[in-house]
Amino acid sequence: MNPQLDALLARTERALLAPPRAYRGDRESSRAQSSVERAGVSLATIRDYRVGVDLGTAYTVLIVLDENDQPLAGTYRFANVVRDGLVVDFIGAIDLLRELKREVETRLGFELTHAATGYPPGVPRVEVRATANVVRAAGFDCRAEIDEPTAANAVLQIRDGAVVDVGGGTTGIAIVRDGQVVYTADEATGGTHFTLVIAGALNISFDDAEKLKVDAREQDRLYPLVRPVMEKVGSIVARHIFDHVVETIYLVGGTANFKGIASVVEEMTGVRTIVPTQPLFVTPLGIAMNDR
Ligand SMILES: Nc1ncnc2c1ncn2[C@@H]1O[C@H](COP(=O)(O)OP(=O)(O)OP(=O)(O)O)[C@@H](O)[C@H]1O
Ligand SMILES: [Mg+2]
Repeated sequence: MNPQLDALLARTERALLAPPRAYRGDRESSRAQSSVERAGVSLATIRDYRVGVDLGTAYTVLIVLDENDQPLAGTYRFANVVRDGLVVDFIGAIDLLRELKREVETRLGFELTHAATGYPPGVPRVEVRATANVVRAAGFDCRAEIDEPTAANAVLQIRDGAVVDVGGGTTGIAIVRDGQVVYTADEATGGTHFTLVIAGALNISFDDAEKLKVDAREQDRLYPLVRPVMEKVGSIVARHIFDHVVETIYLVGGTANFKGIASVVEEMTGVRTIVPTQPLFVTPLGIAMNDR
């Protein structure tokens, strides 16, 4: 596994959470620079950059790296423009991505002209093209299209094991052998299902359930409600890894943040399961690394 993983993810979190600010001319640029420098990088030394766009069911993420794959800036939004890897709101997706692009450009002080994008394994070619077209329409030259678990493994750098991306809409699985992805699959069941179960059980709106769910202090109380959905994720993983030798499962994606999910997956599969410190950023980071 990547020995720099924790440091990289911590730097990514700082780069993403640097608060967006409105651009107000040159006077602002030194302050904009300091927000980037909090991520541990000096703008003056940047020679090249890479951009990753992850159009997800729940979150659309834009991350910018320098030429050494170190995070510079990024941002994300909750949006209903993509469902299970398919763009369902083309115009909405373009508008959203343009907004994220502008926000990050303002923060960085330079224009972003190219990007890579990701897609879940197994989606039809025409859908991959649709995703790339959103990226183009938002003003990027789309230099690479990469499947999401392969992108995730550019960050994790595991030689053998399974990368499981539990996102908003789907659970993506990639089995890695000798550093190569040898098998991929993607199935419906993700964080949206967790939220729906919570909303139903507590008789609250989807949005309220979503807020409650991502609050770590609420997760012990919510655990019994969502445990069956975790078991469903575990059973999907167990089915796909059945024919392969898998010694470790690496859980990524936003839903991997839910406390206790690793133990449930471990129970259902009988395989040691690990969650990196910031699982939400792993796939978008890996997408950005492929912008070359
Ligand atoms: N702290 C948290 N605890 C539990 N769930 C979380 C947390 N943070 C984010 N999530 C959930 O993670 C999901 C988003 O993760 P991610 O961005 O990986 O998915 P996505 O890429 O949008 O979806 P997909 O890959 O299925 O298209 C949402 O369902 C969100 O509620
Ligand atoms: Mg995703």
